[in-house]
Amino acid sequence: MIDLSQQPERPLVCASILASDFGRVVEDARDVLGKGADLLHVDVMDGHFVGNLTMGEDMIRALRKHLPDTLLDVHLMVDHPAMFVEPFARAGANVFTFHAEVCDPVRARHTSAPAMIESIHRLGMKAGMAINPFTAPESVEPYLEQLDLVLVMSVHPGKGGQRFMPGVLEKTRWLKRQLKPATRLEMDGGLDEHTCKDAVAAGVDMLVTGSALFGAKDRSAVILAMRGR
Ligand code: DX5
Ligand code: ZN
Repeated sequence: MIDLSQQPERPLVCASILASDFGRVVEDARDVLGKGADLLHVDVMDGHFVGNLTMGEDMIRALRKHLPDTLLDVHLMVDHPAMFVEPFARAGANVFTFHAEVCDPVRARHTSAPAMIESIHRLGMKAGMAINPFTAPESVEPYLEQLDLVLVMSVHPGKGGQRFMPGVLEKTRWLKRQLKPATRLEMDGGLDEHTCKDAVAAGVDMLVTGSALFGAKDRSAVILAMRGR
């Protein structure tokens, strides 16, 4: 399994199974992993934080059972991530990424980021914090010492297949300068062989790809292009 605390030599390709065929998720995942994808990105949506419902604990458990050596990078687009830390850790998640927006103290039952990160670590997972396209990068800054990963959304979260928003590149460059070498910088949304170039130039080392990968005729070519060969 990949060690995310080491700066990778080339960007990692994170296959977002949201774009896989839900009737054969494991086979589709195996196919992209066999073609060079580095890990699986698992999008969890609750119908509140975003207006869509996707998958949860049972899907993570099934992926872990059938793909025991694959890193599972779980991205929670949910209002109350704390309730999922334990079940997801038990199910076999490796990275638990929650959104900075749900930690805003003006929200009812907002999440305490330091406590969340602590419990994620206690249960043996890496902790990530995600920010939406219009969220200021300063909202993750107080937690950078504790975080293993920062995820910059390059589309509005909620569904795959949207167009990449280049406006997020500037804050991505700023974030890269704040990060320790052991902290990964991930980008998610609208990434393909072309848009990934700007992301990588901005310092991104984990490229999430859904529709551009699963929808491609030649998936190997997409993976090779995204990791820069
Ligand atoms: C969007 C999800 C993404 C999504 C990306 O809300 O967080 O992970 O799968 O899909 P594409 O690559 O199609 O933009
Ligand atoms: Zn995602």
